[in-house]
Amino acid sequence: MNQSTTDRLLRASVATSIDAIICTDEKRKITFFNHGAEAMFGYSAEEVMGKPLDVLIPHRFQAAHREHVEKFGASRQATRLMGERREVSGLRKDGTEFPAAASIAQVTLDGEHAYSVVLRDVTEQHRFEQENSELVRELRAAVVARDDMLGIVSHDLRNPVNAVKMLAAAIVRAGETASLPPVVSEHAGVLLQAARQMDALIQDLLDVSRLESGRMTMAPRPVAMTELVTAATSLLAPAAEEAGVRLTSNVSGSLPQVDVDPDRMVQALSNLVSNSVKYTPSGGRVDVNAQVDGDIVRVSVEDTGVGIPEAELHRVFDRFWQSRRTNRSGAGLGLTIVRGIVRAHGGRIWIESRPGEGTKVHFSVPRAARADA
Ligand SMILES: Nc1ncnc2c1ncn2[C@@H]1O[C@H](COP(=O)(O)OP(=O)(O)OP(=O)(O)O)[C@@H](O)[C@H]1O
Ligand SMILES: [Mg+2]
Repeated sequence: MNQSTTDRLLRASVATSIDAIICTDEKRKITFFNHGAEAMFGYSAEEVMGKPLDVLIPHRFQAAHREHVEKFGASRQATRLMGERREVSGLRKDGTEFPAAASIAQVTLDGEHAYSVVLRDVTEQHRFEQENSELVRELRAAVVARDDMLGIVSHDLRNPVNAVKMLAAAIVRAGETASLPPVVSEHAGVLLQAARQMDALIQDLLDVSRLESGRMTMAPRPVAMTELVTAATSLLAPAAEEAGVRLTSNVSGSLPQVDVDPDRMVQALSNLVSNSVKYTPSGGRVDVNAQVDGDIVRVSVEDTGVGIPEAELHRVFDRFWQSRRTNRSGAGLGLTIVRGIVRAHGGRIWIESRPGEGTKVHFSVPRAARADA
């Protein structure tokens, strides 16, 4: 492209730009006003030609603006973004103001100084940013309110649910010795089961809200991982047997001790084993493994179950999330709690899964300091 084509193209771009492009002479008198400027300020080019730039600037900013331009003129800088840090305001013909991002350039030709300003109206951008930050603030407040509510409701539900649990258990026991009508014993048994489920759910809700607010206390001490794994697998052995799933653990007694809260770690392990048992069809296997790796011990719970599609894997640790493919029998809190417990110990948790082949959940926890160290 030759120079005159480029010049014409540039002139056309400047004329049609939606940004306002304004040139002034050394005394800040307007010498050029493109279409973008006409649309932005509401003046025609003829109206402002030769007028001081101040007609486009709200009165209270005029002195500061003049000073800026003078300083800029005295400097050797070729261009400077004026709207970068400080708000630049424009004044329309109808007296309204608008925020703008501005860049200013200067040239000296034959001893004559001239400036050009490119302005972009950022009203919309500002409105958007403000709406966004209000939305974020409201969302945060809503999350805090929801968590507080969750904590309060679950806490206050515990006592009445416990009362139902204890009384139902008393009726079931009474039915074993005294002669109660069979329907009473039967209903009391159903009540007891339902109250236990409610109690477990409330406990999970409380744990989630405590873990997420950092209020769950951990009491780590050196313990043998084998003991924790045995405790968790014994808890789930009846469920595994009922489901026709073979549950094994392969955790060597020579594994170094870990530095964890034993109750919480058994809770985490049993949640993982419970998932594997729940989501593995009869005839399948669930294995718990652990190995030491430097300063950490890595544990994995592996099953040959239904698996989780790759597209859903990133959601498994979200609270209340449950795959549509599984029967949604729980509340969707188990993995959220497990992750909270692992992280509270300074560990990491991750999951691998293939639909139809099975799932492996791995986590790491710190090993206890060696006695000789
Ligand atoms: N081992 C697994 N195999 C297949 N799907 C799994 C496995 N573990 C978890 N999932 C999927 O992830 C979802 C979330 O698991 P999570 O343990 O958080 O909740 P849940 O088991 O549904 O209910 P809860 O644990 O609260 O009783 C499950 O509903 C299931 O869809
Ligand atoms: Mg679960």
